[in-house]
Parts: sequence; structure tokens; C-alpha cells
Amino acid sequence: MKKVRIAILGYGVIGKGVFKICLEKEEIEVIKIFDYKKNFDKQYVSLFTDNLEDIMNDNNIDIVVEVLGGYDFAKKACFLTLSKHKHLVTANKEVVANDIDRLTKMAKDNRVSFCYEASVGGAIPIIKNLKELTLVNKIHRIIGILNGTTNYILTKMSREGISYQEVLKEAQALGYAERNPEADVEGYDACRKIAILTSLAFGNTVKFEEVYTEGITKISNEDFAYAKELGSVIKLLATSYSKDGKVYAITAPFMIDSTHPLYNVNDVLNGIYVHGNVLGDVMFFGAGAGKLPTASAVVSDVVDCVKHKGKNVMTIWSSVKQELGDTFDETRRFFVRIQGDDVQAAKAAFGEGQVVKVDGINGEFGFVTEPMTERAFEDAKDKVSVISRIRIDDTKLQ
Ligand code: HSE
Repeated sequence: MKKVRIAILGYGVIGKGVFKICLEKEEIEVIKIFDYKKNFDKQYVSLFTDNLEDIMNDNNIDIVVEVLGGYDFAKKACFLTLSKHKHLVTANKEVVANDIDRLTKMAKDNRVSFCYEASVGGAIPIIKNLKELTLVNKIHRIIGILNGTTNYILTKMSREGISYQEVLKEAQALGYAERNPEADVEGYDACRKIAILTSLAFGNTVKFEEVYTEGITKISNEDFAYAKELGSVIKLLATSYSKDGKVYAITAPFMIDSTHPLYNVNDVLNGIYVHGNVLGDVMFFGAGAGKLPTASAVVSDVVDCVKHKGKNVMTIWSSVKQELGDTFDETRRFFVRIQGDDVQAAKAAFGEGQVVKVDGINGEFGFVTEPMTERAFEDAKDKVSVISRIRIDDTKLQ
């Protein structure tokens, strides 16, 4: 059997995973590995180079796998790959979220494939499946736990009461976190991923910069104590839906109770709930980060390119910009922590609602509002002394 010849750009956690899997796959031959840090593996030193040109100018290389991480250099390498008429497989959500439009066009023009399954959901085959679903369905809603690092942190904080900083360090040591943890904990990574999924689901390009985004850095152990009292957990949800012809998208921490489809998605796992008009509810669930799960999605793209050699795959994309609805117009319930004990003032501000008290937390109380718009909440919150607020997502399996 003629082997497909690939080059791997980047020899970090994911690059090593990709190489390991490829060594076991008969139909794939890794003929070069690029590592600008010169972190060359002694056993395979002849494969390594720190000169990108060695790869780009090698006509024996059919597919380039980009797992460099970072943005500027990775982007350059991706465009160069396609310009050299090589298939491109990337796990880089920053590059995909920023440049998918131009990359797709270039791949199409040069009759090569551009595959990015690993950019969202780690091992979960969400990109391919979402594309399939849209062939038959109108997608109404996507709710994702799309960042393994923050899910790991929130799960540990919730279960073990460990401080945020301590769990973050663990997540980094385990190789889940991005080079710069800000991308994970401030929600940027999940935001890019929901922008990619929303674009695929609703058919036009969502600019990730326009998706309202909040991270998890302000979530405290007290918040978890109130959540527990309410039979809920706190998750970083990246979600989008269509309503009255508009598409809304947001990435933020949400409280969800045990009836929510993503309540049991814990640790580094990712979960994605999709509701379509014909299929109803469908759930995807699996390892969202880490060496081998992510490498598995990368290598599955390589195999896809091999299967479709001579054709281009994954090049359906509309460059029309998707306008997003105003987050202020969205309606939901909110959990609020309020200083003092003036329940009547809370009710005057937010309407009837539910008071929540936690043993051992004094000088404040929790309050769950009735459904209200974000705008109405913003107007009301200054009438009382709010310590913090967390949105509530009430989605149920339908
Ligand atoms: N840092 C990312 C996460 C890696 O934690 O989900 C996978 O994209």
C-alpha cells in the first residue's frame, strides 16, 4: 500500500501524541517534524528540522499537520501549506476562528483539503457531525462545555473546595491549559470554539470578537456553596441559539441544575448539546483536551484527507458575516449574592424570587431572580448591593 507522507509542525504535547499514533498507523509515514525549539527526539533525530522551508519545499509531503499552538507563526505556516498545494490539518482554534474564511477559499482554489476537527471538542467528532446535521436540520441551539481546563478547574473547586490558583497549576501540569492560561480562564478559547460551531450551524461567519465573553476567574468557593444549596453546579457554557430570525451567542459561567443536559459533564471532559428541528436533541461527550484525545482527532483528519485524495474536504463555508443579537435582549434567570439582609429590597429590585441561605456564610444572602432580560437585570442591580451574579441556564432535554 502506498503510504501517505505527512509532516508535523510542532512537537509539544499534541505533536508528540500525533507522532505516536502515526507510528502505529501503517498507511501514514511521518517524514518530517518541525520544531523551532530544537526539542529533537534522539531516536528519530533524522526526521527533525527547525527550518520550515525544508517542509514547504519538499514535494514528497502530501499533508501538513499544524499543531504549533500560538497564532502568528502558525497562521503563516497554514497559509504557506495551502499555497504549496499540500493538504492542511490543524488543531489551532485561534487560526481557525480568525482565518477560516481565507483558508477555506485558498484550499478550494488549490484543490486541497483543510481539516480542523481537533480545533473544537478535542476527541469529540463535532465538526464533521455538525456539518452532517445541518444537511437535514435547522439547528436551533448549541450549548457546549468546550474548554477542558476550566471544566477541570470548576469540577475540582466544586467537589474538593480547592482554590482556583491551586487547581489551575494542576491543569497546566497535566497539559490541558493553553500556553497562556488567560485564553482558557477568561473564556477566549471557548468563545473561539463556539464561534466556529455557530458559524457551521447557522451558515454564516460569526466573528468571535463579537461573542459576549466572561471567564471563570471571579468564581469563588462561596458561589459553589450557594450552587450546592440550589442543587446546581457552575459550568463555563459557550452557547448559541436562533430566535425570531436572530442568532445570539455568549460564553460565560452559568449555574445549571441536575435536569440540565450538561450537568454531568465533569473534569476535563467536554459536552455539546445540539437541538435541531428534525432530530430534536443530540449530545456529544468526550475528552476535550489532552495529548492523545486531541491527537486522535488530528489523525482522523489525516485519514480523511487520505480517503479523499485528489478532492478537497471541509471546504463548505459561507463568508457572509453573521450579525449577532444583542446580549442585553436575552432573557434568563440570575443568581445574585447581595450584601446585608434586606430581602424586601432584593424583591423590589428583581421581583419575587427565591432567597438562598448557606450555613456559615454571613452578612449576605443569595437570591434567584425570575426570568428577566439582561438589560432589566443591569438596571435593577444597582438598587441593591450586589457582590456577584451568575447567569442560570434552564435548558432541559426536550
Ligand atoms: N486548552 C484547551 C482546553 C485545549 O482546555 O480545552 C483544547 O482545545
